[in-house]
Amino acid sequence: MLNTLNAPATPSAAVSAPGVRARSPSDAVSGLSDARGRVKRKLRLSLTDRCNLRCVYCMPDTPKWLPKAQILRQDEIIRLARLFVEELGITDIRLTGGEPLLRADVVDIVAALDTLRPLGLERIAMTSNGGRLPRVANALRAAGLDDINISLDARTPETFTRLTGGGSVEPVLEGIAAARDAGLPVKINSVVIRDHNEHEVLPLLRWAMEADMTLRFIEFMPLDGRGYWNADRVFTQDEIVAALRQHHRIDALPETDDPARYFSVDGNHRFGIISTISKPFCRRCDRVRMSSTGTLYSCLFSAAGEDLRAPMRAGADDQALARQIRGHVWHKEAGYAERPGYVERPITMHVLGG
Ligand code: GTP
Ligand code: 5AD
Ligand code: SF4
Repeated sequence: MLNTLNAPATPSAAVSAPGVRARSPSDAVSGLSDARGRVKRKLRLSLTDRCNLRCVYCMPDTPKWLPKAQILRQDEIIRLARLFVEELGITDIRLTGGEPLLRADVVDIVAALDTLRPLGLERIAMTSNGGRLPRVANALRAAGLDDINISLDARTPETFTRLTGGGSVEPVLEGIAAARDAGLPVKINSVVIRDHNEHEVLPLLRWAMEADMTLRFIEFMPLDGRGYWNADRVFTQDEIVAALRQHHRIDALPETDDPARYFSVDGNHRFGIISTISKPFCRRCDRVRMSSTGTLYSCLFSAAGEDLRAPMRAGADDQALARQIRGHVWHKEAGYAERPGYVERPITMHVLGG
C-alpha cells in the first residue's frame, strides 16, 4: 500500500493547526494537501473537450478539438481515479467536459467509478449542459451517479440561444425533467453576464422556486476562450442580491464548504451564488482537476498543469504517479484571490471543465 510508503513523518501541522504550514508533501497527513494547509477531497475529471454548445463564456469562437489519441481512455481514467481515491484520499469525483455526455462510454465510466466506493469514494457527480440527458439519465442513475448539476443561463429562448451560440432551451428543460424522473438530485448553474442575462435572474429564481430546485448563480470568470471577459461584464453577488431584493426578502445563510454562498428567499426557498470574482473562496479550496488529456491542474486558474498521461503511458507505476500528484498539488498557488484577472494559457474553460 502506498499510504505506508508515503506516510507522513509527523502529524500534519497544516491540518491540525491552521496558519502553521507543513514543510513538505510528506509532512502532511495521508491524503492530498497543499503547503497552505488546504486538504483536497474533490477531483473534477474532464472526460472530453468536445461540446454540442458554444457558450460565449466558455468556448473560443472556433474551437479546435484535441486529437483523440491525446484523450485518456476509459482504463486510464479509472486507473487514475482509483489512485486518487485509494491512495490520495479523494472522496468526491465530478465528471465534467466539455460536455461529458458526448463521450460514448460515459455510463461505463460511471459504473467503473462506482466500484471504487469500497476504497473510499463517497460521491460520483456530473456537470452537464443537459441536452442529452433524456436518453441516458436512467442508465446513469443505475450505474451509480449520485447527482448532477445542469447549466441553464436563461429561461427566455432567445437569450438562451444567444448565450449558448445557437442552442435551444427546450432540450435542456427536457434533460432536467429526465434527470429528476430518474431520481437524480439536480442543481441548476446560471452564469450571469451584464448586458446579456442579468434580467433573467428573477425569472430563473422564480422558476426554480416553483419547480423546487436549487439554483446557483455564477459570476462570469475570466476563463472564456475569446477574450470576452472584462470586469464590467461581471454581475456580482451584491448586484444579484440587490436585484432580487426588489421583489423578495433575501437573507444570507451561514457559509458552507460549497463554492456557493447560500441565501433564503422569503424565509423558505434556498439559492446560491458562486462569487469567484467579487468574493473569492480560495481559502477553503478542497479540489483539484484533471483535463481529458490527463493533465492535472491544482487550481482552476493555474497557468500550467502536470502531465500524468505521458508517464502513465511510459509505464510509471502507481507510487511514481502518486508522488508526482502530491508534489504538484503541494505547490498549489493561493488562487484567484491573490492573482485576479485573465490567465494567459493555452487551454480554456471547455478543456478544464470548470
Ligand atoms: P458541487 O459539488 O455541487 O458544489 O459542485 P460545484 O459547484 O463544485 O461544480 P459545478 O461544476 O457545478 O461548478 C459550478 C461553478 O463553480 C462553475 O462555474 C465552476 O467553474 C465553478 N467552480 C467549481 N469549482 C471551483 C473552484 O474550485 N474554484 C472556482 N473559482 N470556481 C469553481
Ligand atoms: N465563468 C463562470 N462559469 C463558467 N462556466 C463555464 N465557463 C464559465 C465562466 N467563464 C460554468 C458552466 C458550467 C460549469 C462547468 O462552469 O456554466 O456550469
Ligand atoms: Fe480553488 Fe483556484 Fe478556485 Fe481559488 S480560484 S477556489 S484556489 S480553484
